[in-house]
Amino acid sequence: MTPDPGDVPVHDGSPHELSWKDLLAAAREDATFCRARDLVRLCESVIARAGLTGFNSMGSPRKDAEALVFETLAIRDHNERYLDAAVSSLERVQILGLLERRVDGPTPVPYLLGESFFAGRRFTVRPGVFIPRSALGKLLDQVLAEVVWSAQPRALELGCGTGALGISIAVRVPAANVDLVDIDPLAVQVATANIRRHRVGERMQAAVSDMYDGVDRAARYDVIVANLPYVPEAQIGRTNTEIDAEPQTAIYRPGDGLDLVRRALAGSAPHLADRGLLVLEVGTSNQPAVAELLAGRGRWWQSGGAAAGVVSLTRADLEA
Ligand SMILES: C[S@@+](CC[C@H](N)C(=O)[O-])C[C@H]1O[C@@H](n2cnc3c(N)ncnc32)[C@H](O)[C@@H]1O
Repeated sequence: MTPDPGDVPVHDGSPHELSWKDLLAAAREDATFCRARDLVRLCESVIARAGLTGFNSMGSPRKDAEALVFETLAIRDHNERYLDAAVSSLERVQILGLLERRVDGPTPVPYLLGESFFAGRRFTVRPGVFIPRSALGKLLDQVLAEVVWSAQPRALELGCGTGALGISIAVRVPAANVDLVDIDPLAVQVATANIRRHRVGERMQAAVSDMYDGVDRAARYDVIVANLPYVPEAQIGRTNTEIDAEPQTAIYRPGDGLDLVRRALAGSAPHLADRGLLVLEVGTSNQPAVAELLAGRGRWWQSGGAAAGVVSLTRADLEA
């Protein structure tokens, strides 16, 4: 006889009722997790049960889990083929410690590891500096293909954070000199460390600057890229709590959030070469408002068939 759904007992041990704290406490007592796959599985489950999506971390609970386990095992390639790697008891303790800090905070994985992953490369990051994840990273090769490079190619990143975007340009365009600026001295310090790390110091420099205030007025850039803060301050506390780990000054702006975007639109033309390109990430939610400001000027980019919240404008567009 098929039981009436009302008769089915609800028992306390339902796996759905386990919290991340239960799982983590049990794992600390249990030494059977001895392969990478077991710990990846555990980490993924704990992170997901804590309600974390990983959007400003590695992208998903699974990718967070792989990063925590593989990085602890000094396996730089987070590939499934290493899931059978043995985990020593010391490594296991270390992974569980990182996992606890991941969910109890919550702290994004890049801050735990001091490493961020962007456009196929690793960049040093630390708490207080935005974790690079711009939509522009995915579009970078396509966008750079549109740039008309002059005989002495030059690029600028406004609001550089770790410098991941600008350094990715320098790596892809070996003839280019690339300048980075950020209003935050800590970001400039981290960007400088990343310039050294990627051995592009002969062609790159990072400086503290409020938008164009500290930028060489004589320089004419072939491309200027910017992923500036654009989320309205009214959103503070309303977005996913994971974002609270990052500096508010890198994310939020007063009013409609677009004052720095307006400053970039108003101030970029004199810094561009005649055929130079300004590329701005403004976020998909701001795309309609910025499109209205631009009144038909510029080219909006798509990623995977969807709006990317990224617009490019030529110097002529900006002067129109
Ligand atoms: C969203 S983060 C992006 C960082 C980096 N471009 C990336 O995509 O990873 C915005 C950055 O702009 C910087 N910023 C904020 N206001 C600025 C200003 N007035 N002038 C220059 N940089 C600014 C912040 O400090 C932060 O590093």
